[in-house]
Amino acid sequence: MIAEYRTKRGEKEGEMTRREFIVDGSIVLGGAVGLMTMGGDFINPQKAKAANVVFPESTCGNEKPARKKALVAYSSYCGSTGGVAEAIGQSLCDCGAGVDVRLIKNVNDLSSYEFLVIGSAVRSGSWWPEAIDFVVKNREVLSRIPVAYFLTCLALYRNTDATRRIAEDYMDPVLKAAPEIKPVDMGFFSGALDYSKLGFVYRTVMKSKMKKQSIPEGDFRDWGAIRSWAGNLSSLLRT
Ligand SMILES: Cc1cc2nc3c(=O)[nH]c(=O)nc-3n(C[C@H](O)[C@H](O)[C@H](O)COP(=O)(O)O)c2cc1C
Repeated sequence: MIAEYRTKRGEKEGEMTRREFIVDGSIVLGGAVGLMTMGGDFINPQKAKAANVVFPESTCGNEKPARKKALVAYSSYCGSTGGVAEAIGQSLCDCGAGVDVRLIKNVNDLSSYEFLVIGSAVRSGSWWPEAIDFVVKNREVLSRIPVAYFLTCLALYRNTDATRRIAEDYMDPVLKAAPEIKPVDMGFFSGALDYSKLGFVYRTVMKSKMKKQSIPEGDFRDWGAIRSWAGNLSSLLRT
């Protein structure tokens, strides 16, 4: 899967570039600074609309002690990546693993896991910083057990060679931050856009950016692709 995306580097004329797509954090920050007096809610969408957002966590299959244990840990601000993490966890569980799905901020101890899937929504061209920090903090453990990475983003609203390259580039900061971790696979998934879950600044910036890219509000998660990717991973749990 990774090799397939790496074949055609170099932009063709007229192709969407990564820079065009990224929701530039500096623009958002610039707008937000003027609104600081009104509170941090404008800067942190998770905080701003927490009441509307569900971040699922679950445990599956752990009642059977012989099963290999896997953790699916994720970062999200509007919740849709949690749905992706749950679908991955369910697929691994269906294939015989004992699986915990957890928000990264709630993971303290990795010692009981034999396999890890770590994912994040993309914000400003990269995983959430807390997800990269998690990988760096646990680099020693993660370089010894099988690890898979995934992301959700809106660049993949259109599935083309160019957008797949953009999505693949979003993973570079993670790979560079902890190069000793060699993921067994990486999943690139289209996400969701729900303006009601964003604070004023992010909603305004995203609306303008998405209008330019002709990307509508909606849920673009491809459950078939997500389950198929997770199903392929499960072969690693049988060895
Ligand atoms: C503030 C903000 C910045 C974003 N930046 C990017 C980006 O740089 N590239 C991209 O492809 N998608 C970007 N997205 C889209 C999200 O990655 C996508 O909506 C994802 O599914 C959100 O996941 P969540 O619901 O778990 O937070 C951004 C979304 C928001 C709200």
